[in-house]
Amino acid sequence: MGILKFIPKKILLLGSGELGKELVVEAKRLGLEVIAIDKYENAPAMQLADNSFVIDMSDKEILKNTIKELKPDFVVPEIEALSIEALKELEDEGINIVPNARTVEITMNRDKIRNLASKELNIKTAKFSYVFNVEELEKKSSEIGFPLLLKPLMSSSGKGQSLVNRKEDLLFAWNGALKNSRGKIVGVILEEFLNFDYEFTLLTIRKDSGENLFCEPIGHEQYKGDYQCSWQPLDMNQSLINEARKMTAKILDNLNGSGIYGVEFFVRGKEVIFSELSPRPHDTGMVTIVSQNINEFELHLRAFLNLPIPNISLLKPSASRVIISDNESNNPSYTGLNEALEIENTKVLIFGKPTSKKGRRMGVVLSSDDDLNIARENADKSALKIKIVS
Ligand SMILES: Nc1ncnc2c1ncn2[C@@H]1O[C@H](COP(=O)(O)OP(=O)(O)OP(=O)(O)O)[C@@H](O)[C@H]1O
Ligand SMILES: [Mg+2]
Repeated sequence: MGILKFIPKKILLLGSGELGKELVVEAKRLGLEVIAIDKYENAPAMQLADNSFVIDMSDKEILKNTIKELKPDFVVPEIEALSIEALKELEDEGINIVPNARTVEITMNRDKIRNLASKELNIKTAKFSYVFNVEELEKKSSEIGFPLLLKPLMSSSGKGQSLVNRKEDLLFAWNGALKNSRGKIVGVILEEFLNFDYEFTLLTIRKDSGENLFCEPIGHEQYKGDYQCSWQPLDMNQSLINEARKMTAKILDNLNGSGIYGVEFFVRGKEVIFSELSPRPHDTGMVTIVSQNINEFELHLRAFLNLPIPNISLLKPSASRVIISDNESNNPSYTGLNEALEIENTKVLIFGKPTSKKGRRMGVVLSSDDDLNIARENADKSALKIKIVS
């Protein structure tokens, strides 16, 4: 065998939020060059990257020209609001899109990923139906039944999503979805509201070889479609984990691009139900910064750079709790950091977002302990200490 030479690569990050920032940390540790892009200046990942640009990534020509000029070895999307046409054309011209342009396209559209999972691969999901004009709304809703969830076909973090309890509220939910929808399509997905027992994220690493590596399941809680806290490991039956792994493998055999995937499931009784997946590190997976020997960001890099991942192990049960702003500020500062860090085995990540607004995620607390319940309590206690002030 010859000597393997590692040549530092240039990575172009599309989206520079908190997940991008942690990816830059790991990329810089490996000596890579990172260029960070977002639609606003001084975004978290830009503060660490070698270089950064502010552009409209949903504009095909702008995105395409920027990428062509910068000549990255890998284009790594951190967000979904991208011109997919630009990415597809660049891939055809030989540029590496992580994990690949088809996967980015399928996972940014709720209908495309749902069709693949449910219709093509026969994977269990909530009952669903698509509505493309308002006239069909009532009929299709009564087929699904109330309560139901109405979601824009393109959106994330719960944006534009409503729980609809009765037909009188459909129109309001429809208008809210269209207002918050990304992209040009006018359409929503109606989903049966599942009264699940719990939900979890199965972080899965797809290697170049086609092998899948699974992390321990991550439990999490959501409020209005946005993640509030997460923990790893999640105490659940091994047969349910195996079921989720099987479903994931079916989907990844189809998508087949190397990188990490956040695969979301619901559990109701003995049923595992697939929800959605994203081809990148997952917000609920920030807990792996303290819980695992290799965190989700480094795993993503190692997977698409085709570097070895000999084992993934859990170091200690751990938990995360988000720090959410309850006010608006153009110059946020933080109180309570001293009190928050008094708590043992706890880390506070302040994302460094240049502005805050009500409901915006500004940081996260991570805690570990041999006893998972203590880790969760400590993360919660610590996060409560921190206040965002203008
Ligand atoms: N059919 C459903 N029944 C019950 N709850 C649901 C259903 N679909 C979604 N939810 C709840 O809403 C949350 C957000 O839904 P979903 O993941 O589809 O939205 P999202 O906007 O893509 O969020 P993100 O991008 O942050 O993952 C889920 O984690 C779950 O708590
Ligand atoms: Mg989700």
